[in-house]
Amino acid sequence: MNTTTRTGAGTGALPDSLISLFKATFGGAPAGVWAAPGRVNLIGEHTDYNEGFVLPFAIDKRATTAVRPRGDSTVRLLSTSGDEGIVEADAAALAPGAVTGWAKCPLGVVWVLQQRGIEVPGFDLLLDSDVPLGAGLSSSHAIECAVVTALNDLTGAGLTAEEMVTLTQHAENAFVGAPTGIMDQSASLRGASGHAVFLDCRDQSVQLVPFEAQEAGLVLLVIDTKVSHSHADGGYASRRASCELGAGVLGVAALRDVAVADLEAAGGLLDPVTYRRVRHIVTENDRVLQAVETLRSQGPAHIGGLLDASHASMRDDFEISCPELDLAVDTARGHGAIGARMTGGGFGGSAIALTPVRDERQVRDAVVRAFAEAGFTAPDIFTVTPAAGAERLS
Ligand code: GLA
Repeated sequence: MNTTTRTGAGTGALPDSLISLFKATFGGAPAGVWAAPGRVNLIGEHTDYNEGFVLPFAIDKRATTAVRPRGDSTVRLLSTSGDEGIVEADAAALAPGAVTGWAKCPLGVVWVLQQRGIEVPGFDLLLDSDVPLGAGLSSSHAIECAVVTALNDLTGAGLTAEEMVTLTQHAENAFVGAPTGIMDQSASLRGASGHAVFLDCRDQSVQLVPFEAQEAGLVLLVIDTKVSHSHADGGYASRRASCELGAGVLGVAALRDVAVADLEAAGGLLDPVTYRRVRHIVTENDRVLQAVETLRSQGPAHIGGLLDASHASMRDDFEISCPELDLAVDTARGHGAIGARMTGGGFGGSAIALTPVRDERQVRDAVVRAFAEAGFTAPDIFTVTPAAGAERLS
């Protein structure tokens, strides 16, 4: 789920201040504090549900939760952002479709654990997150991953990271109602400082690939276009349906099984729109493999062309970009970025621009100016670095 509410994000509070606030709100100390990051995807978009390859990383912005089990089945939830106040629910009476707002994320996790036969007691939970909301940086997955990590510890369920990925995906699909894949949870749960997560979405195997932009004199800029999107809306699901149709016509289990060399023949079998959707997935999978190889052999300064080609493919073949994302990408490229692309599910959210440190100011100023001239809402621009995955903080 990607919330469409653009209320301010939280503060990125440290565990100590979160614990103080927890005590003041709920009375008594939490049993612990857990955090999980948002993500950017370097390359590999919409390939996850096609059993393909992705290369995201966990960012240095995260959701932090202080949690304490209760003696009954009541769940009380409070977020430091927004003005919903304390949300109360009965852990024993959760059902998909019955919950609205940010509470869907933690309650979806409770529901999915129960479906799996894990008994989850009622609990009090305080959330603080500095992952920008609705910016396509997986703010909701960060919450879900922090909560599943906390409840895994508190219930002694002993779930592996792979199992938590599958469970939170099920929570998103069945409880929140967004037909998304496994990329975001995998980055949040399995990310590591200084590394991108090269994930094979068919078998969930992960290889950590060093991504040290700073050492190469680069920064990765995120340009949040402020265009809201929700993957529970139609666009994401219709792309997924096109991919399934394409795989069916081509007689493969998933588009992962189609090679670039097969595309010409596929053109004769598919209608033009499905063909373009398929071509994006097939070429994007190939770009991920090339990006991993290039990062390993030559470093981040050499992946710019792949980022650009990925954006063009999403704009022209998969048709998930929008004017704000295209303007962000084109302007960044025109003012010094060595590669840029939209990141995440599309239809809004953020672009990334891999930029030499010396050109950072120029790129930022040019993008702000171009948005003002186009009459678009002012973007938010910041840098991200690869950070640790979900963890217990105290
Ligand atoms: C969203 C989904 C992911 C993935 C991306 C597109 O972020 O949650 O599973 O499909 O879109 O790559």
